[in-house]
Amino acid sequence: VKQLQIKGGSGESTIYVGESLSHLTRYIDAKQTVLITDQNVWDTYKDQLPDCPVIRVGTGEAAKSLATVGYVYDQLMAYNVDRSSCIVGIGGGIVCDIAGFAASTYMRGVPFGFVSSTLLSQVDASVGGKNGVNHRGYKNMVGVFSQPRFVICDADLLLSLPKEELLNGFSEIVKHAAIASEPLLAYLEDAAEKAIDLEKNAIEKLICDSIRIKADVVNRDEKEQGERRKLNFGHTIGHAIEKVYGLSHGQAVSIGMMAAVTLSLQRTGLSQDQADRIAAILKRLGLPVHHPLDGVAIMEAIGKDKKRAGEAIGFVLLRDIGNAVVENLSLEDIGSAVGELFAS
Ligand SMILES: NC(=O)c1ccc[n+]([C@@H]2O[C@H](COP(=O)([O-])OP(=O)(O)OC[C@H]3O[C@@H](n4cnc5c(N)ncnc54)[C@H](O)[C@@H]3O)[C@@H](O)[C@H]2O)c1
Ligand SMILES: [Zn+2]
Repeated sequence: VKQLQIKGGSGESTIYVGESLSHLTRYIDAKQTVLITDQNVWDTYKDQLPDCPVIRVGTGEAAKSLATVGYVYDQLMAYNVDRSSCIVGIGGGIVCDIAGFAASTYMRGVPFGFVSSTLLSQVDASVGGKNGVNHRGYKNMVGVFSQPRFVICDADLLLSLPKEELLNGFSEIVKHAAIASEPLLAYLEDAAEKAIDLEKNAIEKLICDSIRIKADVVNRDEKEQGERRKLNFGHTIGHAIEKVYGLSHGQAVSIGMMAAVTLSLQRTGLSQDQADRIAAILKRLGLPVHHPLDGVAIMEAIGKDKKRAGEAIGFVLLRDIGNAVVENLSLEDIGSAVGELFAS
């Protein structure tokens, strides 16, 4: 079991990679713990969960709402949960966001932990202490910074994960490599097929390296004043593509990364060779690298993005693989990259 540490103003978190769901009771007092999970995870893993009260929430982004959080508060009160208790979210990013937000706000904060059960939540969502829910159609509008005491990343849980969900995680792993680690990209190039097959050494190494990159960024900039923005690589255009075309997050971010790569060729001196490496690894993993895009619709969707500050948008570009910079770009600049992908 490998341990990684997050030290933030909002608490400390230890992430255990290679730990097993069956060892959860080593991290909690089962008599004082309430579990939060969703229907799919419950159906697949109910026999492997410790004997604790379980709160089940719905699946999908619509379930990540204040209404669900209200339901969770009701259940916590019914179970007499107080600050001497512990709340454990067992699931993907949606369950972890709901559980983390509910735990951080119920009675002004109850200790909590996660068993992360999707690749995306292992390499991204359960790392970094952001916990939030959607509101009025806007993603993650309401939330807190608060660190889980522990996060268990059990790669065996990924064996039951649908292929498309796995791709969402791979897209974030490529993102981490692109912004911070050429060696991680080189490893992916070596081991892509093993990773897709969930060969244990390969997938655990990818999870570990990916978490280390995000943890390093978060340790330097927990509240996203500067460097943490680099984690948005591919996401400005990606979120717009997700909204406009209804692609999965991983597919949309993959195309968004290629748009950012195209802009990086023009503006920050990324070489064509390195751009080709990123496109090639995305393709090998089964992710799309272009898509017919309507530049106007994409620009409109980006304009509505809550992270937009005035006219200029802090946009993440690459100087090289492993070396990202945030530049202020206009919507028009971004539109031109979208236009080029459309042309290809
Ligand atoms: N807090 C953060 O910093 C942060 C970062 C990135 C993403 N997120 C959030 O994470 C969410 C997406 O998370 P996700 O991609 O994990 O999606 P998800 O939580 O919706 O899980 C995907 C699907 O897989 C199912 N599932 C989960 N584990 C399974 C398993 N082991 N076997 C079979 N099925 C399983 C779920 O029930 C769900 O249907 C988004 O809401 C996003 O905003 C948060
Ligand atoms: Zn993402």
